[in-house]
Formats: sequence, structure tokens, C-alpha cells
Amino acid sequence: MNQPLSFVVLSTGLDTFKEIRAALATDARARLLAGGDDAEQVSAEIKNLHPSAVVITLSAANSEQALKMIEKLSIESPQIAIISAARNASPDLILRSMRAGAREFLRLPVTSDEFKTVLDSTAEFCAGQKIAPKKKGRMIAVFSSKGGCGTSFIATNIAAALNAPTMLVDLNLQAGDLPLFLGVEPKYSIADMVENRVRMDDALLTSYVTPHSSRLSLLAAPREADSADDIKPEHVFEALERVRESYDYVVLDPQHTFDSITLAALDQADDIVLVLTLDIPAIRSAQRALEIFDRLGYSRKKVRIVVNRWSKQIDLDLQQVERFLKEKVAGYVTSDYQMAVTSINLGQPLVLSEPSSKITVEIKRIVAAIIGQSAQTVEEQPQRRKIWSGLFKRNSNGAQQNLDMQTTLSKI
Ligand SMILES: Nc1ncnc2c1ncn2[C@@H]1O[C@H](COP(=O)(O)OP(=O)(O)OP(=O)(O)O)[C@@H](O)[C@H]1O
Ligand SMILES: [Mg+2]
Repeated sequence: MNQPLSFVVLSTGLDTFKEIRAALATDARARLLAGGDDAEQVSAEIKNLHPSAVVITLSAANSEQALKMIEKLSIESPQIAIISAARNASPDLILRSMRAGAREFLRLPVTSDEFKTVLDSTAEFCAGQKIAPKKKGRMIAVFSSKGGCGTSFIATNIAAALNAPTMLVDLNLQAGDLPLFLGVEPKYSIADMVENRVRMDDALLTSYVTPHSSRLSLLAAPREADSADDIKPEHVFEALERVRESYDYVVLDPQHTFDSITLAALDQADDIVLVLTLDIPAIRSAQRALEIFDRLGYSRKKVRIVVNRWSKQIDLDLQQVERFLKEKVAGYVTSDYQMAVTSINLGQPLVLSEPSSKITVEIKRIVAAIIGQSAQTVEEQPQRRKIWSGLFKRNSNGAQQNLDMQTTLSKI
């Protein structure tokens, strides 16, 4: 896949800017981040936006200042590809711009052939730059195969309790409700991110997420259920991989079915918090989920069982549940309907609004237990990864179709 190339442009007037912008728009790799004819402002944008390349336009009026800018930029940011551009440039000006540090020269007006050559060589230069090792944020899926157990509530509070840059991702693509839990109004969603995945860089990623605080952001589900139809499991996989490069933690709130998107997310996750309540249907459903995790080859170390809405008044005790599930309960979150509903209605995660409540204390304990265990020890065997990818059928157009739960499970 072609790497995206981000550009900042120093132009010599609006016409030149529009011309370069139009040329960039013809190439799927290129994305214009900022531009203008004020050298100082453009320099500031370069510092802020870390583009892959900068186009600096030279004219008789600005050539000395522009050449100085090329020289300074090539020394301070040698990883940025500098392209000088000019109309009716003399060989002397071309030579001086190259000596100052420009890697390419673009003649104006832009011709498509020359522009493609310049872009190809810029792409080659950028690909050859030393790339810092990619960060891989820890991914925690909060899951229940039965609705209404409080997974969204727990997922939101786990995300809010993490003390590092965290992205909460709403994978309930048809009817996501996480904006309500955080009291935010997203403008964009995972559908926009998937649509523009070829051009994804840090600046674009940031523009699609909805900040809640300096530490917590939301990648929302599409507002229109229709746009969710175009999102395929491999898109979700790709989007999540991209997100974890920029955040320390990625907390997922998937659907309650084993559809192919949920499987993609669960497979990718380092940890699965399996949420249940103390009623027979929820316990049965958790037992079935554990069986499916076994068949998927997930290590039991990856799974943590959390009982939500726990109360002393419930007849079933935790030991009975552990015996039935043949697995330890890692946490039990007290039932406090009024507190939970108030926090949801106010759009304020409880761990932030009620820091000393029992629910907060338990969620923080669960978070500490998860992050206390290294992601490595919970990672599955390499040969077991991406089982989900074999579960999709391709139709004649090459598009992937989700299989229903029955079909999916019978193939595991
Ligand atoms: N610990 C708790 N004590 C009392 N009520 C709770 C608790 N946790 C969640 N609830 C309540 O349970 C209801 C469902 O919560 P939530 O929406 O988080 O569940 P869900 O599993 O995500 O449901 P959905 O099927 O809609 O995805 C909410 O009204 C919430 O206030
Ligand atoms: Mg939910």
C-alpha cells in the first residue's frame, strides 16, 4: 500500500496555492495539511504538523527569503522532503534551491507527468527515512454476549480510570451510545476514519476522534446506521492498529454477538473483560463465551471475568459462579443503580465524578490488575491469531460478508 504523504505549502499568492493544491488533490497519496504565503506562519505550521514534505514556491520577489527558509528547514528537519517550485525559473535559481537543500524542483504551471515524477521520488525519500519503532498501545475489549449487563458502563469507566492517553472505541456500529456516557457530541466517527484510511496520519486521526479530556478520547460509532454497512472487519482491524500507534490504551466496547467485526476486535485485543450479571441467562451466556474463546484459541490469561451489579442480596454467591464457569472472578462491581444512572445521564464517568464510591474503587482495582500484567504474557500463540480472517466469505465483488453467529461458530 502507498504510504500517505502530508504536505505544507509556502506559496507566492493565492493562484499558486490553488494550483499546487489542485495538483496534490489528483494523487491519492498526497494530503495537504496547511499552506499560505506568509513564511513565518508556514514555518510555524511545519513545526506543529510534522509534514512529510514541504513545497516552497520561489519568485523574483521572495527568492532570497525562500532560499533561506529551504536552508534552515533542511538543517532543522532533514527528514522532511523539500520541493522548491517556480514559474519561469532560471537554471541558476534551480541550482541555488537544490544547493540550499531542496530535493526536487517543480516547474509551474504543474504538468501531470512531472508532478507524478516529483511525488514518486518524494515518496521514495520519505519511505527511506528512519522510522521510529511503532508504538503499540494495549487493547482492552470489554465484552458480554448478553446485552444490558453494563458493558458500556464498565468500558467507559475503565477507559476513564486509565492514567495515560486512552481511546475508547464504540464498536456497536449500528447503535453506539458511548457519546452519552461521556457527554460529548462527535462530529466524526469510525466510518470517516475507514473511508479515509489510505491517507491516515496523526493529524487526520486526531480530527476524527472526539476528545473528552486531555487523556481520554472517543472514536464514535457512525451516527447513520447505514454507513456502518460499508465497514468490514479488516477495516476495523486496520483502524484499531492505527489507533494503538497513537494511544497507550485502546478500550473497545463491541457488540454482544460473535459477528465478524466483534471477532476481529476480540482477537486483536490483549485483554478481554468478560462482563456478566448474577442471573442465570447472563451466567450461561458467559459460559458459552468462554467456550467460544477456548475454541478461538484465546489464552485464559487474556480473559478477566467481571461481575457487574453485584449485591449481597443476590442468592448466587461468587464461589458458585466460579465453580460453574471453572474460572476465577477477577472483579465484582457493586450494584448502585442511582449512581450508575446519574453518571450516565450527566455524561460523566463515575470514576471521575465519584472518586471514592465503591464502584470507582473496584474499577480502579480491576484496571490495576490488568495493567499490572504485561501484555506479552496474555498474548495468544502466533498461529492462533487472525482466526477471524478465515471466517469471512468473499462475494463475487470481492466484498466481505459478515456471517451470522451460527455459521461463524460452526467454523471455529
Ligand atoms: N454497577 C451498576 N449498578 C447499577 N446499575 C448499573 C450498573 N452498571 C450498569 N448499570 C445500569 O445498567 C444499564 C445498562 O448499562 P449499559 O448500557 O452499560 O449496558 P450494556 O451491556 O452496554 O447494554 P447494551 O445492551 O445497551 O449495550 C444502565 O441503565 C446502567 O445505568
Ligand atoms: Mg452497550
